[in-house]
Amino acid sequence: MSSPLSFREGADGEADVSSLSGNPHPPGPLPEGTGVVRHGARHVAIIMDGNGRWAKRRRLPRAMGHRKGVEAVRSLVRALGPLGLECLTLYAFSSENWKRPEDEISDLMALMRAFIRSDLPEFIANDVKLKIVGDYKALAPDIVEMLEDALARTAKGSRTLAVALNYGSRQEIARAAAKAAQAGPVTVDTISAHLDTADLPPLDLLIRTSGEVRLSNFLLWQAAYAEMWFTDVLWPDFTLAHLEEALANFAGRERRYGGR
Ligand code: FPP
Repeated sequence: MSSPLSFREGADGEADVSSLSGNPHPPGPLPEGTGVVRHGARHVAIIMDGNGRWAKRRRLPRAMGHRKGVEAVRSLVRALGPLGLECLTLYAFSSENWKRPEDEISDLMALMRAFIRSDLPEFIANDVKLKIVGDYKALAPDIVEMLEDALARTAKGSRTLAVALNYGSRQEIARAAAKAAQAGPVTVDTISAHLDTADLPPLDLLIRTSGEVRLSNFLLWQAAYAEMWFTDVLWPDFTLAHLEEALANFAGRERRYGGR
């Protein structure tokens, strides 16, 4: 369904985000190495918040904020290798986001389709493995098919982009606990082994943009010993330099995991 706020759509009904990237498709080279070398983080997750406010401040439709948010996603994915990160997990659509107006949901789904279609060749070229966390099979059948095709085609990648779609952490923990109970004793380890993130490195750093200081049902279990970084920067304005700032700060933290 097309909304009055929706972006330009291609012939197949997808949002066209390629013109926003400022970069050619198919794939171009990754950016040069960055300033941060020894941050030690393997896995960073981000609650990408503030798209709506970014648009509102510019008197633009909310959809434009989400669309600009995809550019921020793209530039960080390109930097995974140079930053030496094994995994970046992004909260793209929560299980609670279904409460948003239908137009906005449809805009977000159109963006997801367009992003996967336009950036898949670049993932493959840059050795990026796509992973989905959350109950993505409840999404529209064409998106499920597109995602599963992308999962298969990027399966050998060495750096992971995990996208949280129809994701809720409490739901994930409940699902994992139920599976663990079917298989045997329910322990911290058996629950962990059944989480959607079981094959990802431990979460090191969780970032939330836009000045909000809460987790909003994102990676509650995984964040048990993660470091947190909250910034006022709105997601569409979040750049590689902001991520490097967070990683530099992370590098200076003493992680004690409850010990001393
Ligand atoms: C929160 O901003 C953002 C979202 C609910 C969606 C995030 C989606 C994207 C960045 C684009 C699609 C992602 C990918 C991976 C292609 P908000 O709308 O709640 O902002 P507000 O709090 O300022 O209103």
